[in-house]
Amino acid sequence: RAPRIVVFAGSIRTGSYSARLAALAARELALMECEPVLLSLADYPLPIYDADLEAESGVPEPARQLRDQLASADGVFIATPEYNAGFPPLLKNAIDWASRVRGGEGDAFKGPVYAIGSTSPGGLGGYRASMMLRQTLALGLNVLVLAEQVMVAGAANAFTEDGDFKDERALERLRAVMSTLIEQAALRAGLRA
Ligand code: FNR
Repeated sequence: RAPRIVVFAGSIRTGSYSARLAALAARELALMECEPVLLSLADYPLPIYDADLEAESGVPEPARQLRDQLASADGVFIATPEYNAGFPPLLKNAIDWASRVRGGEGDAFKGPVYAIGSTSPGGLGGYRASMMLRQTLALGLNVLVLAEQVMVAGAANAFTEDGDFKDERALERLRAVMSTLIEQAALRAGLRA
């Protein structure tokens, strides 16, 4: 079977730049030897994590569903915005809740290979958010994160109306990272891409 690659963004804003990056990544993945699955965190609504809430009612169902999606993936691509030099609470909260799910098939974090993308209307392309996300995944959750990443600076002006990159080199970069992700996901899952 082809490696299953789950893709989502750390923003649910209408017109979100990181959601555009996620959509473009999924579109490119669809042209490669894999099974891309584009998710939106809007479909996994979660309260802010609170241990009392967890003790009273357990882990909410959307967190279980998100965990199951990740656990069934061979590779994951997360496109994050940058908020105050970090990644947004929407994304952190989703990861935190998903990390609290016990049981279920597979492992959401030690199973798939992850790759990071970031966007920013500014000049740094969300680099600082990407590093914080890398820290949470690699150091916090023992995730295997690709060294290769995608950064989109000047995001307000980076996309065409059809959701393409205006800059052909940016598209080549995205393709290269997606291709490495598929390769590594297939290797890790013992699949042939
Ligand atoms: C931002 N923004 C921002 N951008 C950036 O490049 N570095 C930063 O540190 C911050 N800080 C920041 C804090 C807060 C609270 C907000 C709301 C925004 C701007 C941010 O990149 C912009 O709103 C993007 O459009 C958000 O990403 P999406 O929703 O387009 O994916």
